[in-house]
Amino acid sequence: MTPPLAAGRGLFLTVEGPEGAGKSTHARRLYETLRVELPLVLTREPGGTPLGEAIRAVLLDERHRGMRPEAEMLLFAASRAQLVAEVILPALAAGTCVLSERFVDASIAYQGYGRGLPVELVRRVNEVATQGLRPDLTLLIDIEPHLGLQRARGADGKDAPAGRGDRLEQEDGAFHARVREGFLELAREDPGRFVVVNGALPRDDVHRALLEAVRRLLRDRGWSR
Ligand code: TMP
Repeated sequence: MTPPLAAGRGLFLTVEGPEGAGKSTHARRLYETLRVELPLVLTREPGGTPLGEAIRAVLLDERHRGMRPEAEMLLFAASRAQLVAEVILPALAAGTCVLSERFVDASIAYQGYGRGLPVELVRRVNEVATQGLRPDLTLLIDIEPHLGLQRARGADGKDAPAGRGDRLEQEDGAFHARVREGFLELAREDPGRFVVVNGALPRDDVHRALLEAVRRLLRDRGWSR
């Protein structure tokens, strides 16, 4: 493995996007490509720790249809607080980079824009959960909700009935349209941190665009030549 060129804190990268954008596939592929070049940890939210994975099961369980938006926001934040303290901050402090599938932007998009909780409230709660940590780069894989949900609920490209999938995937198209708009708004507000890639493009093209964005950051921060 090539030793890191920069000593000190690792870089924190996140991958976001609406349902069916291909986040997991692309995060895994980025991780496989980059881990031979730099010390890197791959994690996901909700989850990434034993407690977080238990919270994830509760959050996605369709039996909890009556979950209040506030309860939902706090459970996502609880999983995040554990992940930040147990995995992300120690890794960054040791000079390891972290690639996380989802982070606070997902709570702002889903619980803020999607559920209608005040965005400022979601931000405040998450200041506690993250101890103020912010990503150095956020890769937003954008996808039109109709196409994304088709992919998420059924086999790639095949039509699938609405209402299928986990508790959040089961929300209606209007919810997912607000979530997508929330992500795009966040990207517009912080163009220095976000890179938006069209998730409807062929997979290899999406991968190349994501990789290029990470490599640019690595160069800018002295992690590669
Ligand atoms: P995943 O599909 O990325 O594995 O995430 C599980 C679901 O949780 C997905 O529907 C997005 C949703 N989610 C939120 O609503 N808020 C959050 O803060 C996070 C991290 C995920």
